[in-house]
Parts: sequence; structure tokens; C-alpha cells
Amino acid sequence: MYTAEEQKNLYALSKKYLTADDAVWAATPAAQAAALRKLLVFHEWRYYVCNDPLLSDYEYDQLYARLQQLEAAHPELVCADSPTQRVSSDLTDTFASVAHLSPMLSLGNSYDLGDLEEFDQQLKRMLNMPLTETITYAVEPKFDGGSIALVYDDDLLVRAATRGNGSEGEEITANARVLHSIPLRAPFSKLGIRRVELRGEVVIRKDIFARINEERADAGLTLFANPRNTATGGLRMKDPREVAVRGLEAFVYTLGYAEDTNGQPASDRFATHRESLDALASLGFKVPEDQQERRICHGMHQVMDFIGQWEKKRESYPYEIDGMVIKVNELNLQERAGYTAHHPRWAIAYKFAARQATTTLLHVEYQVGKTGAITPVAKVKTVPLAGVRISSISLHNEDFIREKDLRLGDQVLIERAGDVIPYIVKPLEELRDGSEEPIVWPTFCPVNDTDSPVALLRPQGEAAWRCPRCVCGAQHLQRIIFHVSKNAMDIEGLGKQIVERFFALGWLRNLADVYRLDYDKIAALEGFGQKSAANLQASVEKAKRNPVWRLLHSLSIHQMGQRASKLLAAEIGHVLELATWDEDKFLHIKDIGPTLAQNTMAFFQDATNMALLREMEALGVNMLPTEDDKPPMQATSGPFLGKSILFTGTLLQMSRKEAQEKAAAAGARNVSAVSSHLDILVVGEKAGSKLKKAQALGSVLILTEEEFLQAIQAT
Ligand code: IVH
Repeated sequence: MYTAEEQKNLYALSKKYLTADDAVWAATPAAQAAALRKLLVFHEWRYYVCNDPLLSDYEYDQLYARLQQLEAAHPELVCADSPTQRVSSDLTDTFASVAHLSPMLSLGNSYDLGDLEEFDQQLKRMLNMPLTETITYAVEPKFDGGSIALVYDDDLLVRAATRGNGSEGEEITANARVLHSIPLRAPFSKLGIRRVELRGEVVIRKDIFARINEERADAGLTLFANPRNTATGGLRMKDPREVAVRGLEAFVYTLGYAEDTNGQPASDRFATHRESLDALASLGFKVPEDQQERRICHGMHQVMDFIGQWEKKRESYPYEIDGMVIKVNELNLQERAGYTAHHPRWAIAYKFAARQATTTLLHVEYQVGKTGAITPVAKVKTVPLAGVRISSISLHNEDFIREKDLRLGDQVLIERAGDVIPYIVKPLEELRDGSEEPIVWPTFCPVNDTDSPVALLRPQGEAAWRCPRCVCGAQHLQRIIFHVSKNAMDIEGLGKQIVERFFALGWLRNLADVYRLDYDKIAALEGFGQKSAANLQASVEKAKRNPVWRLLHSLSIHQMGQRASKLLAAEIGHVLELATWDEDKFLHIKDIGPTLAQNTMAFFQDATNMALLREMEALGVNMLPTEDDKPPMQATSGPFLGKSILFTGTLLQMSRKEAQEKAAAAGARNVSAVSSHLDILVVGEKAGSKLKKAQALGSVLILTEEEFLQAIQAT
């Protein structure tokens, strides 16, 4: 469609228009409009057809807005094929197409108070209101997911559809029925409504998104780029059971269409948008929480104030949002304002700062972790991104660089989404001019600054290259930082920066040094003093009495997580006894596998490590299991004694947690997955893949919730 050369020019021109002042806009309005259309058509093609945008949404919106302004000022320039004259489409031929009861429109965009004030004034002019009067707005989050339309007939969910091209969408009822936040029945009839179409957004929690990506990484699958793609992709999966796995949720944000039992419009049931959302909430739909998450604002200054509050909490909000939606609250005013072909005149979206940017990949630096894993870090030309200046971005491992085919000098698209950590989405290959250089993966530890090179190793089945023998101290520093951290020995007052400072002073070279710090010297350091030195000493003394699982975890033995440390701590009489353990003894402990066994054996059979631990013991570090290291009390009798049990599907009579407690009290062990070790599977409503798997195994006893309760009551 476009040659590489054309693409390069169109991209360069777009950037020029985006960054330069008005000087580049010399031509006539007609020529400007033509140029903008050409750029927008190109970027739409990259976005929708290639699935591979070159501009961030924000940049695209800016160009689009410029064309809209021009066309508004010169209506004679509008033509049927202008990008402003169409609504985007996500139609494919996988699902049946259905017509929406009323068109699903999009929203106009704004980026600052000025835009909002202009919107407000325009609205007043259109409604023939004095400019001094105040309009009341309902302000709510703009969820960044996939839009959905839900039709209820006689209180029953009869249809769900994606937005599609705005007038027709894809029928995805079976998938929508999987989402617990979408009621299958809702008593609209109580309001005299027989048929209704609701609009909402399907989203995924950021933490679930991150977990799914971790699981995908473990399984060697490609990662999802952001929560939005995960949600929209999830909605359009062919197998509804797969949808359930993604943990999608639906927020409802408007009542699009309603009719009463006589087939007459029932839009007069509510006076305001707020009332309609309150009513939807009371009918069982998920809507943003009143006051906290959505609010009534009088005039644009209050709107900006509320938006400002949201901007601050946006990162910590569990769902991804890309802005706020400002809607006229009075429904009769909404009706008077009406619609353009694309969006309501009574609502506008306020978009938060861009979370994507392009920049140059300058060079790659390497860091070494506590277990010797080498992490490449891209140094990029500093760019602002969602309120932070970005100059370093982790590249994870060698495969990441290979798969993305990253090269030094590349223009790269970077993003912060669903996560505070920025990442490189891709290099912009079409912008290469041949001067880019491949990234050569190091053979020897690149962190090591001594004269003795150490060859890197990549253990089989692992993504990371490791430095197997640290000669420069870098790994020791990371180990000390981890050793004292909250999840390990939990030494308050010994944060990363202080460890680095003490390390540089030569006071902390190994773990034992932590327990022989000279507090007089520390008190004399700048920024310290008697009091903080004494506090630090108290924290170190306290840490010496820690349960041994903390010590085991703190040693940076590869794969020795908190859980494994606790399992091991419960089985030993003294930490140093582990030097005598053979593999069998480790494997005897349930859930400890051969890799961890090997890693632990290697650690304790190393003379230097053992000498260090003995030193630590001599310095007072506890090596004997404490009360805290003993396994929790387990039932010694009960109908399920010694059995492993798993709950799946929705339980009706108790929560999952209650069920697990009951099972444990009846002697069972709760496990998290179906395997040949599973004895009992209790199935609630809508049990899915776990039930299938258990049935296929044939060895698992399958109980209903009722049967489970009867079995534990029988005793
Ligand atoms: S109101 C006619 N409210 O943003 C009213 N939309 O460009 C139009 N969106 O894809 C939409 N959160 O799915 C509205 N609280 C909210 C929203 C919201 C997210 C999405 C919507 C559409 C896009 C609008």
C-alpha cells in the first residue's frame, strides 16, 4: 500500500506538524486539510490494518483535532472520505453481526482546562443559556478496555455485542454471560422498562493482567501489550471458557436506549445521568462508586479539580483508565444538546497525558542480580512519559532483544501501561537508515570491572545468562541488599542506598558484616547521628532472633522463595545441618523439586558459604527453628484426613475461603491445581476447565458443594 520511503516521509511530516510551530502550516486551509487527511489515512492504516501504529494515540488525536478544527472553520472542505467522517470498526467475520438499538458513538477529546471551557461555552451557546450560568456535569473515569452493549428483554440478558462500527457490532453474548459483573437477570420491569440497551466497558484488573503475563512468560507465550488488548481480545475469544480464565469485568456507564411495555421510549424514568447510574447500581450492575470515583461537579473548575484528584490516584487504581468522561448531568439538557454523527454534544473525554512515546535507543548497559542473572538495560534518549522522565528501560534478557530485533540507534516505541514500569513495545523498523547496529550479547560478565574475565553461562531451560563466579563484588552487593530487605531479614533502617554507601566504604562486603557493623563510626557519618545508629543497632539485634525461614530465604539461593524456605525450616533441627542433606531428603518434602534441591545442596556444600554462616552464627544470628518455623496445626482426624482438595466454580453457600477452612478442619490439604495428586474436586456453578481435567484424569473424586457439606457434617 505504501512504500518504505513514503512511510518514512509521512512519519517525518507528521512529527514535523506535531512539534513545529505554526510556521509549517503555511499553505491554504484546503491544502492543509488535504495534507492532514493524507497523514491520518496513513496512520489509520498502520493502526487498524497493520495493527502496528507509528504514532501514540495522543499524537494521532492532535492531528485529528487539527483537521476537525479546520473542517469546522471551513465546512466546505468536509468530504465524505475524510477520516473525521467515519467511525472506527473492530468487525471480523468470526462472530455474527448485530445492529445496535441506537448507535454507539465515540467521544470528543480534550487535553486541558482550555478545551473544557471551550466545550462548556459552546454548549451554553447551543442551548441558548447565558454564559454566566453553571452547567452541572457528571464526571467519571474513562475505562480503557473494550466497549460492550447489553440488551435486556423482560429483565433477561438476551444479547451482548461489541461496538463494531458503531451501528453494528459483533454478537458475543456467550462470552458476556461468563462475566460475573454482568447480571443475567436484572429487574428493569420494576421501573416499567421492558427492553433496554446498556453501554459499558469490559476491563481487566492491572494485577490480573500482570499475573496472566507472568504465566504466559512461564509458558513461553508472547506477552499481551496492555490491559486493553487483553480485555478486547478476551471478549472476542471463540471459547467462552477461555474468557472465564481472563477474569474480565464490566463497568456500565450509560443507559443507551429504553422502552416501556407499550414500546414507547422510557427515557423519562430518570432526570439525571447520576440517577440512572445509581439505578443501574441498585439493579446489580457494576458502576463507578459515587463520590469517590464519579462525582457531580458544578462548572468546569470543579471538574478540573476532580480530574486533578484522579490524576494522582490513577496509578494506584486497580483498572487502567486513559482519562475522564464529562457528561451533562441533566438528561433533558442532554436531549436538547443532541449528537453529531460521531459523538454526543453533551459529553467530552478528558485524556490523561500520553503513555506512549518514541525515542532513540542509545546503548545497552548490563546489571547483575543477586543470583548472578544478567539483565540488559536500554539507555534511551530521555523522554517524558506519563509524568516521568524515562532514560533507562529493562530489556529483560537476550531473547527479548532478539525477538524484537532491537538495534542500537533504533527509534523505539515505548509505553507505560497497566504497570508503572516502562517497556519497549517495538523498534520502528521503517525508520531505519542502515546506520543501526546489532546488539552484541556479551560472552564474559559485563559488570565485572576486574582483570579476571568470567564467562557467562546460560543454564538449560532458563531465559537468563548468569555470571557463575563473582570476582568483582557486584553480586555480593545485591545479595546484601536482598538479605536485609523486608521480605528477608527485614532490617529496618538498612535500605538499598545505605547498603550501597556502607559497601562503598568497605564496611559491608559480605552477609556476616551486617552483624558486626561499627555503630560509633556510623553515628559519626553525615546524615546519621547517635539516635539513628542506635535504631539501626536495635533492628540488627532484632533480626538476629528471626525465625530461620527468613535466614534461608535471605541467602539468595536460586528458587528459594518464602514458601520453600518455610517448608524447609519446618523440617530441620539446625540450619547448618543442611550441609549433610542428600537430594532424596529434599525431595521427600512435598513441593520441593530437584532444581531447588540441587541449588540448596550446592550452596551448603560450598566451604566459603559454610564459613560465612558459621561466622554469622558466632555473631549471634539464630540458626535454630523457632515457634514461627513450626508448621501450622493440622487436623489429626476428620472425613478428609490426608486428602488433597480443590474448589472450582462459584460456590453458593459459602465463600471460597470458608470452604477451604472447612476442608482443612476436616483434615484435607487445599491445593491450587488439578493434577494426578488431587484427591477431591468440589465443583460450584459454572465449573470449567478444572472439572474437565479432573474428569479426564478419572482418579479424582468429584463432589458438588452440597455433597461436600454433607460429608463434613456427617462426622
Ligand atoms: S460515554 C454516547 N463513559 O470511551 C456516550 N464512554 O470514545 C459515549 N468509555 O469506546 C460513551 N469509559 O467505550 C463513556 N465512563 C465512560 C467511558 C466510556 C470508557 C469508552 C467507550 C468508547 C470510548 C469513547
